[in-house]
Amino acid sequence: MEIGILGSGVVGRALAAGYARHGHGVRIGTRQAQVEGVPSAPPAEVVRGADLVVIAVNGHVAVDLVRSVAAELEGKVLVDATNPLEPSEGGMGLFVGTTDSLGEQIQRAVPGARVVKAYNTVGNALMVDPDLPGGPPTMFLAGDDVDAKALVTSLLEETGWDVADLGGIEASRWLEAMCMAWVAYGARTGTWTHAFRLLRS
Ligand SMILES: NC(=O)c1ccc[n+]([C@@H]2O[C@H](COP(=O)([O-])OP(=O)(O)OC[C@H]3O[C@@H](n4cnc5c(N)ncnc54)[C@H](OP(=O)(O)O)[C@@H]3O)[C@@H](O)[C@H]2O)c1
Repeated sequence: MEIGILGSGVVGRALAAGYARHGHGVRIGTRQAQVEGVPSAPPAEVVRGADLVVIAVNGHVAVDLVRSVAAELEGKVLVDATNPLEPSEGGMGLFVGTTDSLGEQIQRAVPGARVVKAYNTVGNALMVDPDLPGGPPTMFLAGDDVDAKALVTSLLEETGWDVADLGGIEASRWLEAMCMAWVAYGARTGTWTHAFRLLRS
């Protein structure tokens, strides 16, 4: 699969390296002239050539960025890995919730894209091929398009994840809140290699 990743931060680069290991074609869409070690190009060009796009940019710029490539995103699967993080006096917080979410804002901004919220409840170090003593952790996802979720599920399973579908894109509200539980545990323990796992009967 040809995978386009928007954003060359730690998440974009971790996903690029991981997908490449699994034999996928990867390009990063970026404002930078180039990204070391990864093929890159302006966002619109990367989206145009991709079978699947992951957005991994600062939450504050995510909606504007997808709007700027709305034509290229028409019909495409858009995996939203962002979180609406905002520093606050008490530590980190979210700039949207609990009656809306960044995932929903992104879907509304590009109604022609098939948005799947995923990757936002785990740190970049574990995003591809997580290797934890308790076995595969669970990637929670949300989105309105069943076929898009099936494609993302197969990519996640191929890269070491158990997958739990929370339903429509509005469940991003709870996924973005879950991110804060992940951050709170990390901040309290000073460790950043934990992940959620759903136990089912
Ligand atoms: N860090 C994690 O472990 C983690 C885990 C789960 C989810 N997330 C979420 O994933 C997203 C990416 O996180 P990150 O830690 O990789 O990095 P980040 O610092 O949140 O931002 C990543 C990228 O955003 C892009 N960007 C585009 N336009 C921008 C603008 N005007 N101002 C600032 N940045 C802009 C930049 O890419 P270019 O310079 O290439 O354009 C930058 O490298 C965030 O929404 C974050 O909340 C992060």
